[in-house]
Amino acid sequence: MKVNGKPYRSIWLAPDGERVEIIDQTRLPHEFHVAVLATLDDAARAIRDMQVRGAPLIGATAAYGVCLGLRDGAADRDMERIGAVLTACRPTAVNLRWAVERMRSVLLPLPEEERLAAAYREAAAICDEDVAVNEAIGNHGLQLIEEAWERKGRQGPVRILTHCNAGWLATVDWGTALAPVYKAHEKGIPVFVWVDETRPRSQGAGLTAWELQAQGIEHRLIVDNAGGHLMQRGLVDLCIVGTDRTTATGDVCNKIGTYLKALAARDNGVPFYVALPGSTIDWRLHDGIREIPIEERGQEEVLLVRGKTESGALETVRIAPDATPAANPAFDVTPALLVDGLITERGICPASREGLARLYPEMA
Ligand code: MRU
Repeated sequence: MKVNGKPYRSIWLAPDGERVEIIDQTRLPHEFHVAVLATLDDAARAIRDMQVRGAPLIGATAAYGVCLGLRDGAADRDMERIGAVLTACRPTAVNLRWAVERMRSVLLPLPEEERLAAAYREAAAICDEDVAVNEAIGNHGLQLIEEAWERKGRQGPVRILTHCNAGWLATVDWGTALAPVYKAHEKGIPVFVWVDETRPRSQGAGLTAWELQAQGIEHRLIVDNAGGHLMQRGLVDLCIVGTDRTTATGDVCNKIGTYLKALAARDNGVPFYVALPGSTIDWRLHDGIREIPIEERGQEEVLLVRGKTESGALETVRIAPDATPAANPAFDVTPALLVDGLITERGICPASREGLARLYPEMA
């Protein structure tokens, strides 16, 4: 995607061919800053502190984190330590484990002296594949937007509600939930996006709104509690969200608040779709509510809000009494029965064991 007319990915290899550069997402939307990752610790910190976030991008960063770690030693025990450091960074997005396991399976059979170069090749392949996979998700999801437009008699824009940021910033490029929106826009189908603010970290306000504005897509920011009301009023044609982990049975785990949107969508007959690459499917799990680990983040994310003052300064303010504690579960699980379909790189399927098995027979 382009930023000020210049094409960017969310992560890339630095010109020295060793270090890695990322767009620091903690500084958006107010500052566009490229951060350099030079060590395993830099990569782990970037994932933990959410300079990079979104399941596919966490996976891509972990792959490059393995490369950075291997620069200090490539023995089997180094591989173990590097994998352990990276997988401990965030517990919910399964792409983290997926990427580390893929790197291990490629690198461990190789002699030690060949591992570093092979790691860089594999990390680059993971990034390139992510871009292709997300573009395919966009092409498949486009069909849903076209159908919605036909249902409206081609009158007015297709109004899509999304939660959190599952756009290009959450992946290497294109995004998952937003990829169909970008494809529709490219094709000249009018689209309009309701952007959930996504408290507490405001990925909707800070990232999705920034992305959509940069691509010239009409959108409006709403507070997280507005979606149900808008659906009751007939102002939402389609919901599309992402997922950090999908069970073999089609339950999806996404940013906290997604479940409430799915409930409201079902109550109001609004189609609710989830966009995902195959790498977010955890084939070992069958019951999302019981089995998916939910990340609990620090309470300061709920108690403190950061923003730009009218004078242009960036400031942090407390929004609750000093002594008030907060809870901060970062994800929730939407059961498959509330999901109208899964948009994958291999096509759209029902959110069910059978639906996923049809698209991924080799995994099921
Ligand atoms: O905590 P975050 O910002 O990493 O959460 C991201 C999401 O919830 C996304 O919707 C999900 O990773 C899918 S990204 C294509």
